Amino acid sequence: MTMAHHPPCRLAVLISGSGTNLQVIIDRIEAGELNAEIVCVLSNQPDAFGLERATRHGIPALVHENSAFPDRRSYDAATVEILKSHNVELVILAGFMRILTEVMVNAFPRAIMNIHPALLPAFPGLHSQQQALDYGVRFTGCTVHFVDYGTDTGPIILQSVVPVEQNDTEESLSDRIRTAEHQIFVRAIQLYVDRKISVMGRKVLISS
Ligand code: GAR
Repeated sequence: MTMAHHPPCRLAVLISGSGTNLQVIIDRIEAGELNAEIVCVLSNQPDAFGLERATRHGIPALVHENSAFPDRRSYDAATVEILKSHNVELVILAGFMRILTEVMVNAFPRAIMNIHPALLPAFPGLHSQQQALDYGVRFTGCTVHFVDYGTDTGPIILQSVVPVEQNDTEESLSDRIRTAEHQIFVRAIQLYVDRKISVMGRKVLISS
């Protein structure tokens, strides 16, 4: 249910690739189930398919390439400028394959959410699904968390457990995890939009 007394939460979604998580967020908003508005989609990859998804739905989609900047801080400073010019309230990292510096984190305190394809703190960084396969875990999953100064270390909002099958490949496991991502990511955004999340140190409290 949407909360009519709040104006739609202004989201920016940052992507690097296919954008299936972005698509689910778009669909929920269009169905009237999420009281939010995607005010811009940013991709650091010019050929990210997610850009096309945004454009199809009339959402401003921008290519914001990191190669044009000398370092991560200056790239982030430019990102902050774009996001602030759109009055963004919540930043969604939906498959954005860049580590943020404190320039971004400080500009949006406790207002950047990331989806990670593992049960953090296990398997942070890149190739988490392959890391899980190599380790031989029976279960892995996905995590939605706020972004802090570390890599995949911020306070955890929601997690979902996904079984690892004996004959899984990186692709089959990634597909199963992505299906779970699609559920918990929008749920976490919903909680934020409905002002049901508070953060106490490392812990995220969710009110009913
Ligand atoms: C998702 O599996 C997400 O967890 C992962 O990228 C994929 C993007 O899929 N993110 C990371 O690995 C971040 N380190 P999508 O473009 O189809 O939403």
